[in-house]
Amino acid sequence: MPYLRLAAVALMVAAPLFGQVPPAYPEKLLHAPTPVPDRVILTWNGDTATTQAVTWRTDTSVLAGLGQIAEATDGPSFDPLAAKPGAVGPGVREFVAVTEKLVTKLNEAHYHNVTFTGLKPNTKYVYRVGSGANWSGWHQFRTQSDMPAPVGFIYVGDSQDSLKRHWSRLIRQAYSDMPNANFLLHAGDLISTPDNDAQWGEWHAAAGWVNASVPSIASPGNHEYGTAPKTPAEQKVDAVAALGGGGTITEPRKRPSVLTSHWRAQFALPENGPPGLEETCYFIDVQGVRMICLNSMEKVAEQTDWLEKTLRMNPNRWTIVTFHVPMYSLTADRQRADADKAIRKYWRPLFDKYAVDLVLQGHDHTYARSGLMRGDNLLNGGNYDQRGAVYVVSVSGPKLYKLNTQPWMAASAEQKQFYQLVRVDGGVLKFEARTADGELFDEFELRKQTNGRSVLVEKGELADERNGDRLTTREGWFAVGGIALLVAGMFAGRWLLGRRPG
Ligand SMILES: [Fe+2]
Repeated sequence: MPYLRLAAVALMVAAPLFGQVPPAYPEKLLHAPTPVPDRVILTWNGDTATTQAVTWRTDTSVLAGLGQIAEATDGPSFDPLAAKPGAVGPGVREFVAVTEKLVTKLNEAHYHNVTFTGLKPNTKYVYRVGSGANWSGWHQFRTQSDMPAPVGFIYVGDSQDSLKRHWSRLIRQAYSDMPNANFLLHAGDLISTPDNDAQWGEWHAAAGWVNASVPSIASPGNHEYGTAPKTPAEQKVDAVAALGGGGTITEPRKRPSVLTSHWRAQFALPENGPPGLEETCYFIDVQGVRMICLNSMEKVAEQTDWLEKTLRMNPNRWTIVTFHVPMYSLTADRQRADADKAIRKYWRPLFDKYAVDLVLQGHDHTYARSGLMRGDNLLNGGNYDQRGAVYVVSVSGPKLYKLNTQPWMAASAEQKQFYQLVRVDGGVLKFEARTADGELFDEFELRKQTNGRSVLVEKGELADERNGDRLTTREGWFAVGGIALLVAGMFAGRWLLGRRPG
């Protein structure tokens, strides 16, 4: 490895002398793990008020990872600078990591996971990860309250491509707009090639220390699924066929898709979903909001009973669902009949029955969102019943498709990158879609009624309210109706008086 690194550096230094553009720095070196932790990311796999999971990567020389945690103080007293290396400061608790090896085409690495437990709700903590002399810096995060409280989160659709080149500025802009976000939400296709370690390296680097400070929730997309490796029997058939010994080489597409091995190595997500879908189908409760993550890539029907139970036994005031392949496609050539049909058949009736508030999706590389929708006729123009959910599809990366505008879309756009800021406070949910440069593109509010259903307040009505207009559009119509009734009543009264015998 040192020789390869030396050769690469020598080439880069020498190339300009001969008037040549230096070659790209090799991915193998750029994304090489070291004994120092990198790709540090917070996730939840339990109670968000009393636990916090963290995962990080090292090279394979680190056999046992450690996580240290203490309540945050206004200075370094929890870990005095004078403390000897390796000593644990006052109030610091130490946890031993679960470690697993991940072998990719680029490298071999160890992924370490610690779940800090026994934490106090709504309390700021500091933590670091590492072992021996090699530690991360101290990061800080706040545990969630164990009571309903305001929640804010950043939702992004497919980041997928050019993560360093084009996605990094977007996720940084999003964080700067909501630095106290309770979590980040990724609706699938985080990368393009499921087992490509360089792409995962760019994904982690783009958000950098934000991932170490704000927990992430993620749902897998089709780009997190790859073709299953060939079985030994298939490999034998291929070998015989390649030597002209008969048979044909087995077709890769006919073999089942499997979740990238990066997913479970680098995230520690809940395992409270149906068997076989651990860390891809699950729920997390955050301060009065139930976040349900479904896996639209496999076993859609098998998630139905679990989904119904998760919705029925839901004590939270707000319910938000996320998955990758949208319920209703936004692009003309992507009406994926089978996937969409199964999702509509098995999941949508439950969203309606249990009053899911918001559905956050990806996959179509455009932006669109509905009004409150319920019923079967959405593709033909929408049934804007005031009892349904709002459906959103969004994209955050630079890979963009053409939009097929449809009547149910209350707002839509193409050829733009988006991030969304969602705020829940008491009975109000505020949604903003912003473009990569931070400009507001779309917004709406959901206002909870006493029956548990929401009233949708559209962008124009919000603007009216902000401009100081006493009456929103809806209220305006009520007022006009009231005045008309009053006038009609006066005429009716005069007519009746006129008919009274003198
Ligand atoms: Fe996708």
